[in-house]
Amino acid sequence: MSLFARKPIADLQPVEGAHSLKRALGAGDLVMLAIGAVIGAGIFSSIGTAAAGEIRPDGTIIRAAAGPALILSFVLLGVVCGLAALCYAELAAMIPQAGSAYAYSYATLGELVAWVIGWDLILEYAVGNIAVAVAWSGYFTSFMSGFGVAFPDWLTHGYRAVTLSSDPAVRALLDTAPRLGGIPVLLNLPAFAIVMLVTWVLLLGVRESTRANNVMVVVKLLVLGLFVVVGAMNIDTANYVPFAPNGWTGIHQGAAIVFFAYIGFDAISTAAEETKNPQRNLPIGILGGLAICTLIYVVVGIVATGLVPYMELRAADPLARALEVAGLETAGWIVSFGAVVSITAVLLVFQYGQPRIFFAMARDGLLPAWAAKVSEKRRVPHITTWATGLVVAFGALVADENEIYDLTNIGTLSAFAIVCIGVLVLRYKEPDRPRPFRVPFVWVVSLAGAFACFYTMLGLPRTAWERFGLWLLLGGLIYAFYGYRHSQLRRGQIK
Ligand code: ALA
Repeated sequence: MSLFARKPIADLQPVEGAHSLKRALGAGDLVMLAIGAVIGAGIFSSIGTAAAGEIRPDGTIIRAAAGPALILSFVLLGVVCGLAALCYAELAAMIPQAGSAYAYSYATLGELVAWVIGWDLILEYAVGNIAVAVAWSGYFTSFMSGFGVAFPDWLTHGYRAVTLSSDPAVRALLDTAPRLGGIPVLLNLPAFAIVMLVTWVLLLGVRESTRANNVMVVVKLLVLGLFVVVGAMNIDTANYVPFAPNGWTGIHQGAAIVFFAYIGFDAISTAAEETKNPQRNLPIGILGGLAICTLIYVVVGIVATGLVPYMELRAADPLARALEVAGLETAGWIVSFGAVVSITAVLLVFQYGQPRIFFAMARDGLLPAWAAKVSEKRRVPHITTWATGLVVAFGALVADENEIYDLTNIGTLSAFAIVCIGVLVLRYKEPDRPRPFRVPFVWVVSLAGAFACFYTMLGLPRTAWERFGLWLLLGGLIYAFYGYRHSQLRRGQIK
């Protein structure tokens, strides 16, 4: 059987019965899950690096500042993600099964590509959540300082983040932190703790978690509303000059990192097996959620870059910092609180999604069978939920946020590009299959979507490409030595 053997779509229909997940989510829950997944570390944190650029202690420029033209990066990304979202919606409605892009590509482009996508999705979900947890910690620390609670710096900064920082105050920690065997102990403890807490909530079951998510979504919308209203009254139009300090390079490189803010609308497709009437509810959830988020980002971008000179945004908590610099401390503190809540919601959705992708891959034999176990009482994939929790929590303890944004973005964008192509392929391979949602002008949308994703990837630093190459190599080896031999499809378990 060839490496490109495709799984028949009939097999990708949901499995009902004792081994299935519980169907509990409606359209409203999905839009809330989408907003919960999308608005988080990207807008609250990566926006600062995109606007102000990034430079290493030795003076190497990692990326050029976008400046206020960051607003254009957001508009362009709205288009890029809109194209990909349409493709996701067609496939998600057609193949309503846990596993997202992984499941779609299995049916469209075959097993090898499906494996590559599943492997990329680990970068999007688990690795991405490491950055989200670090961003959470940044805002949590500044929120707590409003109560006069100050944590020791060596317990709120990860080792990698400190070594890459060009901020002398942060780098000083290399000398002042306690040492163990000669190595400075630099751990991001709040980031570790929040991941473990979220993991515990998820183990309680999906219904409880979505209810918590709904509350968090309302809080994040209120807080961003506050930022926009209070900020807009204090805009100094002089801050919009120069508008694009590094021209197109800045806009492009800014877009490549702040793309992180858009990741997540696709995450709700991993909940397909737990959705009521997925044919109708998935497209509504995905497209509705994306439209709302794009609008919010553009408005927040206009206000943030109008409030202070863009270089002031280079901070762990740029939105709170912008308000503080403009003399609006109380509003800044409230925004910190909102960021803590918002970013928790993102963590929840990705920690929820990753185990379900592992679940789908294990059920197909590409990962060991224990990864597909569902707990009897709560019907959640408990083993993979634990495994994801531990890996993300330990990663967050030491990681550098920006490095992780880059790696996550390159993996996610490549998965998006493959999904765009997959839609087109399936239109030809299986033209008669019912499509509850059809991409309009499919040739234009899918090809433009794939190209736009690839072009956005080109705005990422070289290190991200190198690491991505290594990641794919590792995935290829695991497939060759495990998945290739154990695949259910290949062993004739699925005909
Ligand atoms: N889009 C999500 C965030 O910004 C991943 O946190």
